[in-house]
Amino acid sequence: MNYQTVLEEIKEEIRPYLNKGTVANYIPALANVAEDDFAMSIIEIDGSEHHIGSYKKPFSIQSISKVFTFTLALDIYGKDLYKRVGHEPSGNPFNSLIQLEYEKGIPRNPFINAGAIVTTDSLVSKYKENTFSTLLEFIKKVSNDENIAFNKEIFKSELESGYRNFALINMMKSFNNIENHTQEVIETYFKQCSIMMNTKQLTKSMLYLANHGVIPNTNSEIITQAQAKRINAVMLTCGHYDASGDFAFHVGLPGKSGVGGGIVAVVPQKMAICVYSPRLNKHGNSLVGTKALELFTTKTRLSIF
Ligand code: DON
Repeated sequence: MNYQTVLEEIKEEIRPYLNKGTVANYIPALANVAEDDFAMSIIEIDGSEHHIGSYKKPFSIQSISKVFTFTLALDIYGKDLYKRVGHEPSGNPFNSLIQLEYEKGIPRNPFINAGAIVTTDSLVSKYKENTFSTLLEFIKKVSNDENIAFNKEIFKSELESGYRNFALINMMKSFNNIENHTQEVIETYFKQCSIMMNTKQLTKSMLYLANHGVIPNTNSEIITQAQAKRINAVMLTCGHYDASGDFAFHVGLPGKSGVGGGIVAVVPQKMAICVYSPRLNKHGNSLVGTKALELFTTKTRLSIF
């Protein structure tokens, strides 16, 4: 299969959708992007790379960072992590408060905002003031790229406008499910969301999940095979919030989206993929990104189903 040709076909076929959907603006600094931008990368386990569009241009990874924090926390705490955050789909929007109160401050999964905040809190308990630098080093390692940083303007913008996330963390603190100072945890969470990466870097960073927890062509085991299986399962069932079923239905791969417009996806034992297009559908997932991945699995028959 010539994946470069597949990418070129996808770029043509998504063209009519490029002006559909809306860029996230509830974090004001996220709206400062080229709205009709598009990039897509594929990296195979053997190292072959295929890219199209603005694949060298970094964007805010937002909730894709939750895959990295989940990985680190699972590595430290193993199954004990699930005492504080579950692994079931929520069926609710990513920033919903409703379920959290009647489920006594235990978020459904590590990919909704509440679950990611608990996961980050668990990292702060371990790494203290070095939590963000540890996370960034981890991302550089799995991406094999030193040139990754967070965007201060997006970080500040979210700190100034993240009222719902403050509500979530305070509610969880009231249920004793936040161990550290809320301000320290929420700042670390906002920083991780404002990390900037391009589709090439993000694709590379997901390869350990396509390769049983090991960075391909190295002996570097990031997590165990069993944990890699679990992370992929949670990506499949929870990676797109209340549109996770829809993503599985149309695309059929473990995936994780971010409101910055990125989506990563994993083809087990074969490759990782990342697509970027900042206009979102009503669930907060990249509209063209979802479409592009659907075209990809249709053309290549690489859905897991
Ligand atoms: O906390 C937030 O609302 C954002 N920093 C991240 C949300 C997000 O990316 C949801 N993804 N689709």
